[in-house]
Amino acid sequence: MPTAERVTASLNTYRALPKVELHRHLEGSLRLDTMVDIARQHGITIPADVLRLSTLVQIQEEDKYTFENFLAKFNTLRLFYRSPDAIHRITREAIEDAAKDNVRYMELRFTPVALSRAERFPLHDVVDWVITSTKEASEKHGVIVRLIASMNRHESTELAEQVVWLAVEHLEDGLVAIDLAGNEAEFKTEPFYGVVKEARQSGLHVTIHAGEWGPATNVKEAIEQLGAERIGHGVRVLEDEDVVALARERGTAFEVCMTSNYQSGVIGSLDTHPLMKMLEAGLNVTINTDDPSISRITLSHEYYTACEDLRMTQTILRERIVAAANACFLPEDEKEELVTKLYKDLKL
Ligand code: HPA
Ligand code: ZN
Repeated sequence: MPTAERVTASLNTYRALPKVELHRHLEGSLRLDTMVDIARQHGITIPADVLRLSTLVQIQEEDKYTFENFLAKFNTLRLFYRSPDAIHRITREAIEDAAKDNVRYMELRFTPVALSRAERFPLHDVVDWVITSTKEASEKHGVIVRLIASMNRHESTELAEQVVWLAVEHLEDGLVAIDLAGNEAEFKTEPFYGVVKEARQSGLHVTIHAGEWGPATNVKEAIEQLGAERIGHGVRVLEDEDVVALARERGTAFEVCMTSNYQSGVIGSLDTHPLMKMLEAGLNVTINTDDPSISRITLSHEYYTACEDLRMTQTILRERIVAAANACFLPEDEKEELVTKLYKDLKL
């Protein structure tokens, strides 16, 4: 392990880089003090001190690193979406935190069904609240933000239909894509073929969590059956050469989130993460956080891990930041502008 001093010095180097985030969940981006405030305001019974609260909503070293434990944190987090104000605040702060980490472009995904559950808010209200605060905070902090609506495999297709209809209605408001997330190990994707097709045909982009807690064939299914342009995680693609070839030919972008993979039990240790093997196999790899507050990381930490633990070179890291911009869901002209600016700022 590097010394503390080296970590600090080095982290600052990564903090200084302009960044692109393609895979971050709003529900995994809540500040602990904000949770304490919301709990006080709404009479939610939680441990009074922040450290004890942390055990419920953030990964601890002593936790068992399994996807069940990882997903369990999201269930606790659902307690905090108690008012429009709470949802506005959570959204604004998630964007402010990204700006502080020098994220220039972010696709923030949120799960309308999760945000609406505690107080039975109508889904359309929840979507409106997130869109409004996103616009406000992205202007205030100078980060370009686009939204992705997530649906969970372990929830009903009827709810997924409603989410897709709402996303289609808000395409012009910066809600540009849909995502299928949730329990990939125990729930099938097939029931969602129809609703994802509808989304695609209506002009929404598609990214799918696949090949994380499920096999490489799930990546193939996401590409061929769901028309996924990008894959969330997808690290298990390496288990099947044919699927690697398919993703390489299509130029499918992989939204890799190393720390999340470690903490949810996909890999045994960070230094055995297959990021570099994916790159060597010619796959279009990008580096992302997934759930910064649950994992207690920033995107700078993930860049640090890639370079310091997995020996990615600084030049390749910079190329991967541009690759993420090229894989983003902006219209071509806006994408070109972003890519050109990054080339310049990254001195490539
Ligand atoms: N995988 C599946 N579902 C999720 C994840 C993930 O990494 N994060 C939040 N929901
Ligand atoms: Zn995710």
